[in-house]
Amino acid sequence: MAKLSIQYVCSSCGAKAPQMLGRCPVCGEWGTYVEEVVESGKSRVESGKGRGISSTQPKRLQEVMATEEMRLDMHNGEFNRVLGGGLVPGSLVLLGGEPGIGKSTLALQVLMQQGERKTFYASGEESVRQIKLRAERLAGDAENLYLSSETSLERILDQVKELEPEIVVIDSIQTIATGDVEASIGSLTQVRECATRILEFAKTRNIPFIIIGHINKEGSLAGPKVLEHIVDTVLQFEGDQQYMYRILRAQKNRFGSTSEIGIYEMQQNGLREVSNPSELLLSTAREGLSGIAIAAAVEGVRPFLIEVQALVSTAAYGTPQRSSTGFDGRRLNMLLAVLEKRIGFKLLQKDVFLNIAGGLRVQDPSIDLAVLAAVLSSNMDVPLDAGTCLCGEVGLAGEIRSVNRLEQRIAEAEKLGFRRILIPAEQVERLDTKRYKIEVVGVKKVTDAFRLLIKAGN
Ligand code: TYD
Ligand code: MG
Repeated sequence: MAKLSIQYVCSSCGAKAPQMLGRCPVCGEWGTYVEEVVESGKSRVESGKGRGISSTQPKRLQEVMATEEMRLDMHNGEFNRVLGGGLVPGSLVLLGGEPGIGKSTLALQVLMQQGERKTFYASGEESVRQIKLRAERLAGDAENLYLSSETSLERILDQVKELEPEIVVIDSIQTIATGDVEASIGSLTQVRECATRILEFAKTRNIPFIIIGHINKEGSLAGPKVLEHIVDTVLQFEGDQQYMYRILRAQKNRFGSTSEIGIYEMQQNGLREVSNPSELLLSTAREGLSGIAIAAAVEGVRPFLIEVQALVSTAAYGTPQRSSTGFDGRRLNMLLAVLEKRIGFKLLQKDVFLNIAGGLRVQDPSIDLAVLAAVLSSNMDVPLDAGTCLCGEVGLAGEIRSVNRLEQRIAEAEKLGFRRILIPAEQVERLDTKRYKIEVVGVKKVTDAFRLLIKAGN
């Protein structure tokens, strides 16, 4: 009989310690240690049947067949795009996101779009009846979708062996357990062990698995950073629950780039693919309103235009408030400091609120210029020229710095009928501006941009 013992594991990075620690010496996080019961006396290789996928002989590079990875078309454009062109057979995909964001909906819907293809959805969270109820809301003509409500990994894998489906979804990794380890369901040891077993199974049988994982409020996958190392692909499903847009991002992808994003809209009957995001993100009634600027942004490799809204008002209480939604708060503070120091705007006694319309979180620094323009417009209560959009990162000296994928941004602005786009001056010279119908204007400093925007706006 294996001996049971207790060990302490950091739920953030997976480091182990013989006693409870307040702060993890490996990742530096506080209060992340949890108690776990383990079977001692077995090495990981024996107990987890190792990481070894199968016994293989080394091959010379020339002998390896370099055929393109075969991919399954998921019949879902946005999903295909993020995976890098489809699901690779035998791969293990982790679909992560906050509870309630739509992971189960997305996974079930993708399976329902598979037509005749045999697929399998195993859930440890819901009964088959509940899954059926959900499925009734979703569009799709799944003829060969099998459901199972099960929490034992061994039984799920037995069912997969019997069914031989082409795609398997497990919802979620935190609710299934293997009898091989004593640790409780959802614990780090269980999650890691189950994922390792699934990986091994997926590779030997060449069946792709999509496993769903919840992330905690800090935004990391609950517990296991370790999990991210095991799987081939990590997809994050994110968005604000109050809004209908959801973004699917590849954080890691062994079979494709991590720069693609997929955009969905949550509707009554499931998730709708959004193939042209700009049209939805721009409101039509913005003309004549102050505090709005349009940024030509890029997320991943995808250009889209987005509305940046600012509200500047006199601070009612002593300390002025600074708050931002969808944009990094520290970066907003930095930009406001540039505005004060370099341009001489007195914002000390003002509250500043910033919002990226549509509930998106934008990481692209090239929306800086639009952020400042929106703040300025609200502060002066003067609307900006509605036919102009902006792109440019703002440096500490108030200078406008180059952006990537400039041509795609310009093309997107032109496609959406904008009259003019302001871009970093240093990039204008390298650009054949005559190619575009849209007027392309280079700006060197934030003040240059303001001059153009305010003059044309009135
Ligand atoms: P769900 O997929 O259960 O989230 P997760 O698996 O990530 O926890 O989806 C949760 C929300 O989506 C739920 O609040 C209801 C909503 N929803 C719709 O708006 N339309 C739909 O068609 C479905 C199935 C769900
Ligand atoms: Mg769910």
